[in-house]
Amino acid sequence: MSTNDGFTLTDNKSGKKVDLPRMIGTVGPDLADIRTLYGSMDIFTYDPGFTSTGSCKSAITYIDGDQGILLHRGYPIEQLAEKSDFLETAYLILYGELPNPEQNKAFRKNVTYHSMLQDQMNYFYRGFRRDAHPMAVICGVVGAMAAFYHDSTNVNDPASREVASFRLIAKMPTIVAWAYKYSQGQPFIYPNNKMSYAENFLHMMFATPCEEYVPSPVLVKAMDRLLILHADHEQNASTSTVRLAGSSGANPFACIAAGIASLWGPAHGSANEAVLQQLREIGSVDRIPEIIARAKDKDDPFRLMGFGHRVYKNYDPRAKIMGQACKEVLKELGKEDEPLLKLAMELERIALSDDYFVSRKLFPNVDFYSGIILQAMGIPTSAFTCLFALARTVGWIAQWNEMHEDKDQKIGRPRQLYVGAPQRDYTPLDKR
Ligand code: CMC
Repeated sequence: MSTNDGFTLTDNKSGKKVDLPRMIGTVGPDLADIRTLYGSMDIFTYDPGFTSTGSCKSAITYIDGDQGILLHRGYPIEQLAEKSDFLETAYLILYGELPNPEQNKAFRKNVTYHSMLQDQMNYFYRGFRRDAHPMAVICGVVGAMAAFYHDSTNVNDPASREVASFRLIAKMPTIVAWAYKYSQGQPFIYPNNKMSYAENFLHMMFATPCEEYVPSPVLVKAMDRLLILHADHEQNASTSTVRLAGSSGANPFACIAAGIASLWGPAHGSANEAVLQQLREIGSVDRIPEIIARAKDKDDPFRLMGFGHRVYKNYDPRAKIMGQACKEVLKELGKEDEPLLKLAMELERIALSDDYFVSRKLFPNVDFYSGIILQAMGIPTSAFTCLFALARTVGWIAQWNEMHEDKDQKIGRPRQLYVGAPQRDYTPLDKR
C-alpha cells in the first residue's frame, strides 16, 4: 500500500527536504503520507474543509466524483438499490461481504429482536416540548442510550461493539417514529417483529391504537430503497464527526449522537428539508429565473438547495435513482401531477443548461428528489433528516468499527495556524 516511489517536499526557505511515501489504494487517487512532516520539517499542512486530506484508510465505500460512481464494498449503488434490501446492504457495509442465507437470517433476527426501546425511555421523550424539532429529539434520545445500555459501551471489546451496532440499527426506526408520534400527541406504536425493517418503520409512524395501517408494497419498497441510498457515503461531515468523536474512546451512542448533530446542518443532511421548503417558496415555474439569478448572485448567500456536492462533479448516482423512484411512488399514489415534482424537474432542466451551474459542475444531489417522495408518503418535512440519520446509522457504525480496528488510528487532533496575539503580560483591571 505504501511505496518508495513517493514525493519529495522542499522547504524553499530552509532548503530542507523530506521524502513522503506514496500510498496507493485499490482505486482512486494516491495519497502522500505526511505523518513525518512535522517531526522532520517542523511544519503543518493547511486544509480547512479537508478538500485535499485523507483522514483514514477505509474499505467500505468508494466514490468517483468525476464519473458519478458510488460503490459499497465494491458493489455499485444502482445494483444494490435494484437487487438488495436495506438490511442486506447494511450487513454488506458492516461486514464487507453479502451475507449467505444463514448469516442473512441471523443478522435479521439480531436486528429485529433489538428494536424495542427500554421502557423507561418513554419517560425520557416526555421531557421534550411537543413542538421540538425531531432532530433535536433523536439527537438527545440516541445520546441518552448510553445511560440505558451501559453493557454495550466497552469500545475495546468487538462483541460489545457488535451488540451496540445491532441496538443502534434496530432501535433507530423506533426512536425516529416515536419522535414523530410525540410531536403529534399520539401514543407510541411498538415495533412489530413480523414486519420488514421498512414496513415496521412506516407502521410505527402511521398506525394508531385505533386504526390499522397497512402500507402498500410499493411504498415499503420505496422506503427501503431510500434507506439503501443513504446508508453510507465515505468520509462526509457527519461520518468524520463520528470517527473523530470515537477516536477519543467515547461510547458508540455518544458518537452516533454527534453524527446526528453534524448531519442536521443545511449543507449536509438537512438539505432534504430545505429543498422542499425552497420548492414551496418558489411555488411556480415562472419564478425559476428569479431563483436561478439569486443562486448566481455572489452578494446573496442564497443557494439552490439539493444542488452541488463536494465530491460529485457529475450527476450524483443516488439522485438519478431517487428521481426515478419519485416518479414510481407518485404514480402508485395517483399523484403523477404533483406540482412540486414538475417544478423540481423544470428547475433541474433550467439549472443544467445554465453556464453558472455547468461550469461549476453543480448537479442535483441525493436530497433534490428525496423530499418529494417523503412528502408523498406522508412523512412531515421536519422528519426528513431523521430518515437520513436512520439510514446513515449503518454507515456511521461501520466506519466507527473500522476505526477501532485500524492500528494506525489515534485520537484525532488537528493543528492550526495561530493568528492571535503573541505572548503578552496581564493588565490589571484599573489599568485597562
Ligand atoms: N447553489 C449555487 N451555487 C453553488 C451551490 C448551490 N447549491 N453549490 C455550490 N455553489 C457554487 C459556490 O458558490 C462556488 O462558486 P464560486 O466558485 O464562484 O465561489 C462553487 O459553486 C463551489 O462551491 P463550494 O461551496 O466551494 O463547494 P463545497 O464543495 O464546499 O460545497 C455543498 C458543497 C454541498 C455544501 C454546496 O454545493 C451546497 O451548499 N449545496 C447546497 C446544499 C445541499 O444541497 N447540500 C446537500 C449535499 S448532498 C447530501 C449530504 O451530503 O448530506
